[in-house]
Parts: sequence; structure tokens; C-alpha cells
Amino acid sequence: MIRPILRFGDEFLHQAASPVEEITPEIQRLVDDMVETMYAAPGIGLAAPQVGVPLRIFVADVSGGHGHGELLTFINPEFMERGGTQREDEGCLSVPGFNASVMRSSRAVLKGLTRDGRELVVEGSGLLARCFEHEMDHLDGTLFVDRLRGLQKDLIVRKIRKLTRSGKW
Ligand code: NI
Repeated sequence: MIRPILRFGDEFLHQAASPVEEITPEIQRLVDDMVETMYAAPGIGLAAPQVGVPLRIFVADVSGGHGHGELLTFINPEFMERGGTQREDEGCLSVPGFNASVMRSSRAVLKGLTRDGRELVVEGSGLLARCFEHEMDHLDGTLFVDRLRGLQKDLIVRKIRKLTRSGKW
């Protein structure tokens, strides 16, 4: 089932999510819905708070569904290592229509549980490392817009306020 994606400005997106205590059938259904919602958007990553569930879960597929075996589900993810830097344009399904360059690690190793409760460790570089940091930010209540400074941030926030006022957000 495709779930509605919350947008920047919704207070829910700015709250830290809680760890999953047990992987129940409901949690697995949520994961399946998140995957369907991410691909339908289309996007390369989606965190549970974006669909209004305050739990530490995200799904990602940096191939956008065009590759094989690249779909990742992380439940209760934690960084094991991070290093290097990269600065690239970044977007978010909760901030549709906006992009900005954000500084991220160029390499990140993430540990978590799969949909079936198995331990998963994945080393990401480039886009995948960026995706990991972006989705981990969502679990801590941070959007990429929150990482911007000065004019770059003001411009996006002002445009979103305008869209909100005219009922287009
Ligand atoms: Ni996002």
C-alpha cells in the first residue's frame, strides 16, 4: 500500500524516531509499504518518519529500482564508520521540487537488521554513503534543508512558505 509522504513543515519530520523493539508482522507490512511508496514516488530512499511512523527504519535503493538486489532495508541502523567528504546536490521526497548541495561523508559503514531480523552490515561510498547519511538524518528528525545555511536555506524556506500559503504544498 502506498502511504502519503509528509512534507517539510510537518513537525513530525523534526522529531527523533524510536528503536524498533520487535520485528512483528505489522513492522514487516510497514517495510513493504515503504518500499512500494519509495518506488512509486519515485525515490532512492525513504525513512519511516516520512510516512508518519516514528520508528528507526529506512529503505533505500540507489538504483531507483533499475538494478537487481540493491534494495536495502535497515531496522535500528547505526553507523560503524564514516570518513571522507563529498558535496553533491541532494533532494528529498519530503521536500519535492528542491535540491541543494550538502556536505556528506564519502564513505559510510552501516549496521542494522533486515526485514527478517538478520544482521546486515553494508559499506557505502558515493551516492550510497550520501543516502545512508540522509536517511539516518531523517531518523534523528533532520531534513537536508536543516543542514543548509544562509541564503541557500532562506531561499528554499521562503519558497516553501509561499507554496504553503497558496495551498500548493
Ligand atoms: Ni529525505
